[in-house]
Amino acid sequence: MELQITATDPAHPATLLDLPWDIPLAEWPEKHLVALPRGISRHVVRFARAGSEVFAVKEVGEWAAVREYALLRDLDRLAVPSVDPVAVVTGRTDEDGEPLEPVLITRQLKGSLPYRSMFETTMRPTTIKRLLDALAVLLVRLHLSGFAWGDCSLSNTLFRRDAGAYAAYLVDAETGQIQPTLTRGQRDYDLEVAQVNIVGELMDLEAGGSLHPSVDPVPFGQEIVERYGDLWHELTRTSIYPRDKRHYIDHRIRRLNELGFDVAEMQIQRSPDGDAVTFLPKVVDAGHHQRQLLRLTGLDAEENQARSLLNDLETWMATQEDYAPGDPLGARPEVLAHRWVRDVFRPAVRAVPQDLRDGVDTAQIYHELLEHRWYLSERAQNDVGMEATAEDYILTILRPRAEAAAHGVP
Ligand SMILES: Nc1ncnc2c1ncn2[C@@H]1O[C@H](COP(=O)(O)OP(=O)(O)OP(=O)(O)O)[C@@H](O)[C@H]1O
Ligand SMILES: [Mg+2]
Repeated sequence: MELQITATDPAHPATLLDLPWDIPLAEWPEKHLVALPRGISRHVVRFARAGSEVFAVKEVGEWAAVREYALLRDLDRLAVPSVDPVAVVTGRTDEDGEPLEPVLITRQLKGSLPYRSMFETTMRPTTIKRLLDALAVLLVRLHLSGFAWGDCSLSNTLFRRDAGAYAAYLVDAETGQIQPTLTRGQRDYDLEVAQVNIVGELMDLEAGGSLHPSVDPVPFGQEIVERYGDLWHELTRTSIYPRDKRHYIDHRIRRLNELGFDVAEMQIQRSPDGDAVTFLPKVVDAGHHQRQLLRLTGLDAEENQARSLLNDLETWMATQEDYAPGDPLGARPEVLAHRWVRDVFRPAVRAVPQDLRDGVDTAQIYHELLEHRWYLSERAQNDVGMEATAEDYILTILRPRAEAAAHGVP
């Protein structure tokens, strides 16, 4: 049998050939290995350096390797957060010609940690909740894509915390299955497995004294079912709205926010029946919005204001023709954000006369306009638009406020 590296990216096999395929993975010399934290697994898994990259190498039967490789490629195509498959190596033999187990190679997910390294004693319960929320987001996204996981657990998930965002990635697809759509029973089964696994894994941490003492494994593990349910409901409800009725979209975003999720991406598709809106949820830290707004627009705002401004920005972006998240040919978020500041944010703030601003900064004014528009639109059960909002806001709120101040009324 000949050594065979099956890969989709032709750049890889060359560097991968330098790895010692004639030695069992467990005995690979240190010089090839990279010491990174790794979760528990039945198979031998090592991180190895080849070329300038670090790969996760897993020894596994050929059938399983090929199958998992194909599933990971499908998940990649479906844009579900999961590790990147790189290659399958078969036909390995040792120096005596004895066969060695095939391997599956995936790209080491940068900045990710297994849960054991993540959920340490020092990790606050609120942070653990956010990570579990990220796992709920992952499970919902997998299910929406038609992937039944079969073995959802903390060990089969990698977590990443990046600039205030929490993300979960699928690392072990071995037990998975892809279909056009999943049945209720398949989703329920996955949830049940997830719950049992998570409770067990948190209990393990607790027994080892490495879980924050105030985290109770059972309710924490049970909550995933509820969080998943809320999110699933919110994302799959009917979402075709009369054209340009952004008030409905605001509703949806606010509900996601109330559940504790943010909108990472939004798509509005025009059809004869109206606008079809889909959301991609994400999980973030408390201080995330402020930093994100500052980064994208240069506007410095309080956390709450920043969140409402970002929601508005995201909604507006989804209506832009060159908005294509993840597509290198689409406009960069910074560019779109700049346009939003120029064409949406500034004109709205300028509509408020200088003498009525009373030293209030522009981000706060815009936030108040957004809130006022929400209030008016709720009352009218219709989107009243920014222009009418500004007019009404000046007339009913700002003028009286200024007059009261001029007369010394507190
Ligand atoms: N691409 C990767 N990037 C980072 N870490 C990885 C990657 N692939 C695997 N790992 C680490 O190796 C561990 C084991 O991988 P994996 O779950 O695929 O092995 P397994 O033997 O199939 O597990 P199981 O016992 O659940 O069957 C993971 O929990 C993860 O910590
Ligand atoms: Mg595993």
